[in-house]
Amino acid sequence: MCGIVGYVGKRPAQDVLISGLRRLEYRGYDSAGIATLDSEDKPHLARSVGKIAELEKVLALKPHTGTLGIGHTRWATHGGVTVNNAHPHNVGDVFLVHNGIIENFRGLKAALKDVEFKSDTDTEVLAALINSKYDEKTSLKDAVAKALKEVRGTYGIVAFSPREPETLVVARLGSPLIIGLGEDETLIASDASALLGYTRNAIYLNDGELAVCNKEGAKVYNLDLKPIASTPEEIQGELEQIQKGGYDHFLLKEIMEQGTALKNTLSGRVDAKNGTMRLGGLNLTPKELKNLRHLVIVGCGTAYYAGLLASYYFEKLVPDLTTEVVIASEYRYRSFHLPENSAALIISQSGETADTLACLREIKRRGAKVLGIVNVIGSTIAREVDGGTYVYAGPEISVASTKAFTAQVTTMLIFAGMLAESHGGNMDTVRQLASELVALPENIEKTLKAYEKDMKKLAEKYAKYDNALYLGRDTAYPLALEGALKLKEVSYVHAEAYAAGELKHGPIALVDDRFFELVDVLDGPLFEKTLGGLQEVRARGGHTIVLTDSKKDIDCDDIVRIDTDAKLTVPLLLNTLQQLFAYYVAVARGNDVDQPRNLAKSVTVE
Ligand code: G6P
Repeated sequence: MCGIVGYVGKRPAQDVLISGLRRLEYRGYDSAGIATLDSEDKPHLARSVGKIAELEKVLALKPHTGTLGIGHTRWATHGGVTVNNAHPHNVGDVFLVHNGIIENFRGLKAALKDVEFKSDTDTEVLAALINSKYDEKTSLKDAVAKALKEVRGTYGIVAFSPREPETLVVARLGSPLIIGLGEDETLIASDASALLGYTRNAIYLNDGELAVCNKEGAKVYNLDLKPIASTPEEIQGELEQIQKGGYDHFLLKEIMEQGTALKNTLSGRVDAKNGTMRLGGLNLTPKELKNLRHLVIVGCGTAYYAGLLASYYFEKLVPDLTTEVVIASEYRYRSFHLPENSAALIISQSGETADTLACLREIKRRGAKVLGIVNVIGSTIAREVDGGTYVYAGPEISVASTKAFTAQVTTMLIFAGMLAESHGGNMDTVRQLASELVALPENIEKTLKAYEKDMKKLAEKYAKYDNALYLGRDTAYPLALEGALKLKEVSYVHAEAYAAGELKHGPIALVDDRFFELVDVLDGPLFEKTLGGLQEVRARGGHTIVLTDSKKDIDCDDIVRIDTDAKLTVPLLLNTLQQLFAYYVAVARGNDVDQPRNLAKSVTVE
């Protein structure tokens, strides 16, 4: 979603801001802008609709000089996609960028009678509110603190004023901000990737904190302006991880590097010889682990499907544990009941998804343990959970989630193995799982390499269809859901997914010549039953693709059989084929695969 960059230091601010905004492009946006101060402390503002390249065209006509500035990529929430609605906003002496939503902006706007508003945004109202407090006797810091006390909603903000030409004021409530401390320079960003290459030393601002930054560093306060001690932390990650590294798109890079990502996920956690699995950081005593009876898994989008897939394994492996998987945006408003000995797994790639975070807080408030399965290190969810573990998939830039899904499921499988051991589960199955997990990175690499061309060919054949139906049973059902989501996200093909057993209960009415069906067929006890559904589709003129690990005969239009000894982890292998399929359909349809229309990587508003 929206991205923020701020800079004060020794370099040309325009260059730092533009390169930072480029690093945040993946989050999704529809307009961009920067505001800077020149060496005579005169402010300059440039904004444009569309990609950052458009903003650069504006700046090429009139480049900004100076070494202090703020920048923003906006994803429209209040008001359409127009230059006037783009950030930074300026009212009086206040220049402001803002992520989040000011819920009471209408009331605040009505009270600010003398201001002639130029946009429809809540952010301009906040800028006006700060400006109304910013009289000659007041510092920008004090004005921001006063204004924020009147605000209801969420914000990550950076403000400056020509009256205090060496200062940036930042504050956060519910929207992340990181302050990078360099040598004679200070950077601010809503995402650590914008700071890589400048500094690794950073303060992660907490909710309710405000900081005053200049090139020497930052001082942190609460909203009552009492100083707060802050300890800088090290930013993780490498610059290469956020670059395409020779691939045409981040999406393909992230699909193809899943083997490497998984090696990091598994590192030091699984001992195949003894069939033991460990996850550090859960903060659960052996007794708590043993007593756990109810597990609620929370997520949105792909993270939800990762939870759904993992739930089949929790059930298979762990006797006496009930598993429930919930969509965060629903669960947060339901009158849910958590029995004794419940814990929640909070699944999130970004660690910032607003609905998921709200569930975390609500479940915590009700006294159950909340455990994070998170990718982005230092993210809000990672910081707020009672315990948890990182999935270590590395930065995921493309909006559609691929390697994070695989790493999330794998991490949950490790947790399922741990629980199985302490709950007296079948240790033969646990050992089988452990040895498959250790082999998984290589199996994924082999699968991707062996079938990439096949998936590309298939994608080119089916790219003309506007409708798709994904089907699967057992663990192949969440797989079908994830496959259909991937396809619709990047290719804009109308893709539905059903449990294959549900076919007769409605979706079969859709099947005609304009549909293709992708069926994930697992070689197991439900093999024949899945084929039954497949034949019903074929009989009605549907075009059928099968992805399978089975060597048996299957009557369909196209088939990709993976050659593997794996049993339990087959769904993760088949999923990589679905990812390639979605990618190549999107490429064939000429879409912007890394930043699909209307989508954002990290959904930090409700
Ligand atoms: C957005 C993204 C999805 C992602 C979902 C949950 O919708 O486009 O790819 O699965 O958010 O995000 P999270 O960061 O919580 O995993």
